[in-house]
Amino acid sequence: MRMKMRNRQQKSSALCCNAGSRCSLPLVIWSLVGCVLVIHLYSVVRYKDRGATTQVRLTRRTVTRELEEVEEENFQIPPPRGKRSPRAVKRRGPRKQPTAIDEFLDEGSDLRPFFFPDRRSAIDPTKEGNDSMFFYPARMWLDMDGNPIQAHGGGVLFDEKSQTYYWYGENKDGETYHAHKKGAARVDIIGVSCYSSKDLWTWKNEGVVLPGEETNITHDLHRSNVLERPKVLYNDRTGQYIMWMHVDDVNYTKASVGVAIADSPTGPFEYLYSKQPHGFDSRDMTVFKDDDGKAYLVYSSEDNSELHIGPLTDDYLDVTRVMRRILVGQHREAPALFKYEGTYYMITSGCSGWAPNRALAHAAESIMGPWETMENPCIGGNKIFRMTTFFSQSTFVLPLPGLPGSYIFMADRWNPPELKDSRYVWLPLTVGGVADEPLEYNFGFPLWSRVSIYWHKRWRLPEGWRTAYT
Ligand code: GAL
Repeated sequence: MRMKMRNRQQKSSALCCNAGSRCSLPLVIWSLVGCVLVIHLYSVVRYKDRGATTQVRLTRRTVTRELEEVEEENFQIPPPRGKRSPRAVKRRGPRKQPTAIDEFLDEGSDLRPFFFPDRRSAIDPTKEGNDSMFFYPARMWLDMDGNPIQAHGGGVLFDEKSQTYYWYGENKDGETYHAHKKGAARVDIIGVSCYSSKDLWTWKNEGVVLPGEETNITHDLHRSNVLERPKVLYNDRTGQYIMWMHVDDVNYTKASVGVAIADSPTGPFEYLYSKQPHGFDSRDMTVFKDDDGKAYLVYSSEDNSELHIGPLTDDYLDVTRVMRRILVGQHREAPALFKYEGTYYMITSGCSGWAPNRALAHAAESIMGPWETMENPCIGGNKIFRMTTFFSQSTFVLPLPGLPGSYIFMADRWNPPELKDSRYVWLPLTVGGVADEPLEYNFGFPLWSRVSIYWHKRWRLPEGWRTAYT
C-alpha cells in the first residue's frame, strides 16, 4: 500500500516538475490553494472536535437560555438642556453637544438616577421577596448588615476548603477629592474589603482584611497613596492565600504591584512588599491560576500601551524572570482572564480613566501568547450600552461550577464624582459560537469561539445551578 502511494506520488511529481527544472507558477498557486484548503479542513475538524462537548453545551444551553436572551434597553441621550454642571461645561466646552458619556459623568444630569438608581431600589438580601436572588446591574447592592458593598475593582475566590466564595475589592467608603487640579478623582486608601457568600447573592461583610496605613507616610499603603484591583489566589502547595494588587502614588508614577499573604481567606493579610514586575511599570493588573496550579500576573505596562504576562513563582509570592509582551500597541487595561476548553480568553477595557469605554475580548491557545483580539463581547442593551461596556469596566470573570462555558462578568460602574457610590455590573458571559470578526493569521477562517456578555436589567442564575451549587 505504502509502495503504491509512493509510486503515485512520484508519478504525480513527475507530471508537474521534471527533474532539474523549476516548478511552474500554476503549481505554486495550486499548492497555495491546497494549503488553504488543508487549513480550512483543519478548522472544520477543530469545530467538529468541539462538537464532542456539544452534549454538555446543549444541556447548558437549555439551562442558560434565559441568560442568553437579547434584551434591549430604551435609553437615549436627552435633548440639550439649558443648565449643565460647570464640570461638564469645562469638559466639553459650552457649545458642544454632550455625548452619552458626558451625561453619564455629569452629576447634574437628568439621567443620574438612571445610571445610579437610589437606595430605594437597592438589592437587599435581608428582605425576603420576589426579588430574591436577582442581580440588578448598577443598583445599590447591600450586604447582610444592610450596608452598600464596598468591593470595587475586585475579584472572587472560590475557597474549596470552606466551599465559600470570597469577594475582595477596594473599600472606597471615603470622601472623593482631587489631590491637585489635573489629578484623577480619588479616595484615600481604606484597604481591601472581603465579603463571603455561598450563593453569590447574599454577602456577609468579613471586614477590611488588608487595611491602609494611617501614620507611616513612607508605607506603600499609606492612605495618601493608591491601592487598586486586589485579587486573591489560594496556593495549594503552601496552603496560603496570596493577594496581588496595584499600588501607586497619588500621581500613578510608582506603577507597581503589591503582594500580601494570609493563612485564612478572611485574613488578616500581611503586606509583604511592592515592586515593578520584570522592571516595568505596572498599573491595571490581575492574576490567574491555571488548572495545573501555575499562576500568572498580567499587567498594563509601557504607559498602558501594552500588556505583559508572566508566571509567578511556585509560592505565588513573586514573578519569575519570564515575561511576554502581549496586545502591543493596543492600549488595553482592566484585564480579566478565564479559560474554556483549553483556550484562554481575556476581556479588557480601553484606557480612559474612570470614564467607560468599549470592552474587547481576546483569545490565545497558550497563556503566554500570542494573544489575538476578537470583538466587542457586549450584546443587547443598545449601541451606547455596548460601546461603553454597559457604562462599566471589567474587573473579573468568575467561572460558574457545573456550567461549563458560563461565567459571571464582573465590572465596575465607576462614579467619579462620588467614588464610594460606584456600582457593580454583574452579567452572564458565555463562550460559544463563532467569533464575528476573523482574526489576523487564520486566513479568514474563525479559530475562536465567540465571547458574549448579555445585558439584563434583572437576571438570576439558573434554578438548577442554584439548587445544586448553593
Ligand atoms: C482606570 C483604571 C482604574 C483607576 C482609574 C483612575 O483607568 O482602570 O483602576 O486606576 O483609571 O483614574
